[in-house]
Amino acid sequence: MDPQMALLYLLLLGPAGHCPNPGISVGAVRTGSRFGLGDKVSYRCSSNLVLTGSSERECLGNGVWSGTEPICRQPYSYDFPEDVAPALSISLSHVLGATNPTQNVLRKNLGRKIQIQRSGHLNFYLLLDASQSVSKDDFEIFKKSAFLMVDRLFSFEVNVSVAIITFASRPKTIMSILSDKSRDVTEVLYSLQNANYKDHENGTGTNIYEALNSVYIMMNNQMQRLGIVTSAWKEIRHAIIILTDGKSNMGGSPKPAIDNIKEIVDIKQNRNDYLDIYAIGVGKLDVDWKELNELGSKKDGERHAFILQDPQALHQAFEHMLDVSKFTDTICGVGNMSANASDQERTPWHVTIKPKNNEACRGALVSDQWVLTAAHCFHNAKDRSLWRVNVGDPNSQWGKEFLIEKVEISPGFDVYGKKDQGIQEFYGDDIALLKLAQKVKMSTHARPICIPCTVEANMALRRPQRSTCQDHETELLNQQSIPAHFVALNGSKLNINLKTGEERSDCIKVVSQDKIKFPNLTDVSEVVTDQFLCSGTQEDDNPCKGESGGAVFLERRFRFFQVGLVSWGLYNPCFGATNKNSRKKPPHGAPPPRDFHINLFRLQPWLRQHLEGVLNFLPL
Ligand SMILES: *[C@@H]1O[C@H](CO)[C@@H](O)[C@H](O)[C@H]1NC(C)=O
Ligand SMILES: *[C@@H]1O[C@H](CO)[C@@H](O)[C@H](O)[C@H]1NC(C)=O
Ligand SMILES: *[C@@H]1O[C@H](CO)[C@@H](O)[C@H](O)[C@H]1NC(C)=O
Ligand SMILES: *[C@@H]1O[C@H](CO)[C@@H](O)[C@H](O)[C@H]1NC(C)=O
Ligand SMILES: *[C@@H]1O[C@H](CO)[C@@H](O)[C@H](O)[C@H]1NC(C)=O
Ligand SMILES: *[C@@H]1O[C@H](CO)[C@@H](O)[C@H](O)[C@H]1NC(C)=O
Ligand SMILES: [Mg+2]
Repeated sequence: MDPQMALLYLLLLGPAGHCPNPGISVGAVRTGSRFGLGDKVSYRCSSNLVLTGSSERECLGNGVWSGTEPICRQPYSYDFPEDVAPALSISLSHVLGATNPTQNVLRKNLGRKIQIQRSGHLNFYLLLDASQSVSKDDFEIFKKSAFLMVDRLFSFEVNVSVAIITFASRPKTIMSILSDKSRDVTEVLYSLQNANYKDHENGTGTNIYEALNSVYIMMNNQMQRLGIVTSAWKEIRHAIIILTDGKSNMGGSPKPAIDNIKEIVDIKQNRNDYLDIYAIGVGKLDVDWKELNELGSKKDGERHAFILQDPQALHQAFEHMLDVSKFTDTICGVGNMSANASDQERTPWHVTIKPKNNEACRGALVSDQWVLTAAHCFHNAKDRSLWRVNVGDPNSQWGKEFLIEKVEISPGFDVYGKKDQGIQEFYGDDIALLKLAQKVKMSTHARPICIPCTVEANMALRRPQRSTCQDHETELLNQQSIPAHFVALNGSKLNINLKTGEERSDCIKVVSQDKIKFPNLTDVSEVVTDQFLCSGTQEDDNPCKGESGGAVFLERRFRFFQVGLVSWGLYNPCFGATNKNSRKKPPHGAPPPRDFHINLFRLQPWLRQHLEGVLNFLPL
């Protein structure tokens, strides 16, 4: 055992008391120095700092302290959306008295979040303070924040019900958990939109107790309805989010309401995970930090009270609170949008295809066993048994190499098929599917992207059931210039604009300037058939050679959709570049760069032929 670990064990396990020394974080003053069973220690903050976490902790039978580590902070300072975890590890490092705590030992205590499980059910209660101390403008910020949260929550296609309560002197239920509409994102967002500050004009006090009590009453009704001993009731997880300035001035302490809620959710039976209460201030509020902190759950190594600068910051914090790691099914197009996520977590469908001794290509998982890529990657590929597909992050434990069971190349693909027309290379039908030798285990690092015109994509777009492929095309390629992305060799997500209509005609025109590949070309559409999307104008990034086959994708409603795949271009920015992180600008006087991507809407028959049954296709 290294000395640091020895210190850690010593601090955690004794020897002095039943519980370890709980420490004193910077700026805090502790009362109580006995650490035996049932002993209590209490904390306050020195000078004008405010306390986050538990002001009192008790040494429990299992040798741990109740509640959560207290931290003293500046009043009214904003939280950065993602400073939660580091703030906690810093506070823990104080406990351990080590400058470089053994992260792995501690990390597991920091991680628990709102669990999103496809098999389970989440009740999400949103409480919006509409009292006088929260101005109308701030209330609008709360609404906008709530809107973002709800929209995001429903993007996972989980069984979630959302209740909305606005409150001042009295609570008003805008959406009840008991209503079937609470499961429907459109209904919930609609009711949220119509929530009105003026509803509380005749009672502008702040009664957080009553607001929480109305949650309790809803829970109670639902429990009666489902039956107290049923798994339907017991398996529901509950998350309460209170957007407030924390200044309750009516109804007394909210604590009895919280205690009732805890009792009904039965959290003492080792069911801590089933209830989370978050208290959040957003915007330029004059927040009562002490009250905010008291409202939030106290769980060891976790924080449940925040002050954030604006709805966007709240949205980011919310991303951080969500945990989708329990998703084991093949939900499509879920990438992590947190600023701190790794490249692979952002684009978990992205795979690298490695022929032996050959230029690599990229591809995209479209199911747990199929990869979509470009046909030209297999041009000249001799022994396919040597090819490998890297799924997950190849540079980490998350990466895994797969053998290929089957390669389907579009029969229409023939690079030299138009040579006699003076077209040296032609990329029509540049599409292929690989069946991996085994199924990929789904994780935050490996998930399929959504393929338009499928039932799976239809759900992700939250469209009506009877939608068609044409509807998807209209929705996804809805303007003449559509922001989209592809993944670079180094894993970064780069930006392009896909052109349709007249802008597409302008985009493809310059191809005829390439006199080497296309001597005396009269009709550009002979080369750039309507199978191709065009990008590469203005500030667009240009794909490099090894990025062929990778998905060209866009984002809608927090989900990702593959509309094309990287096929060919007039310019290779990685040619002569010194490393994977740099691209060269095209030399002066050269024809402007352009890039062409196979448009998945144009290859529907072929995709259906090979993927029907793997994916469920909509009518054309
Ligand atoms: C939601 O719950 C219903 C029944 O309660 C179930 O049939 C359905 O499959 C669930 N949906 C998801 C996405 O888990
Ligand atoms: C507030 O009281 C006034 C006068 O009694 C009444 O007209 C109005 O409808 C009330 N507002 C609300 C939102 O109940
Ligand atoms: C997230 O990223 C920010 C910088 O963008 C960094 O300051 C912070 O420590 C990161 N948080 C975590 C949890 O890694
Ligand atoms: C996204 O990644 C961050 C940083 O790795 C992680 O904390 C968070 O739980 C992830 N969120 C989702 C929704 O996967
Ligand atoms: C291009 O045009 C020239 C003259 O019109 C012709 O001789 C030549 O064969 C053409 N090149 C190709 C590759 O068709
Ligand atoms: C990855 O490469 C792109 C250009 O190819 C560059 O813009 C980006 O900064 C690189 N990312 C990192 C993390 O270096
Ligand atoms: Mg108030």
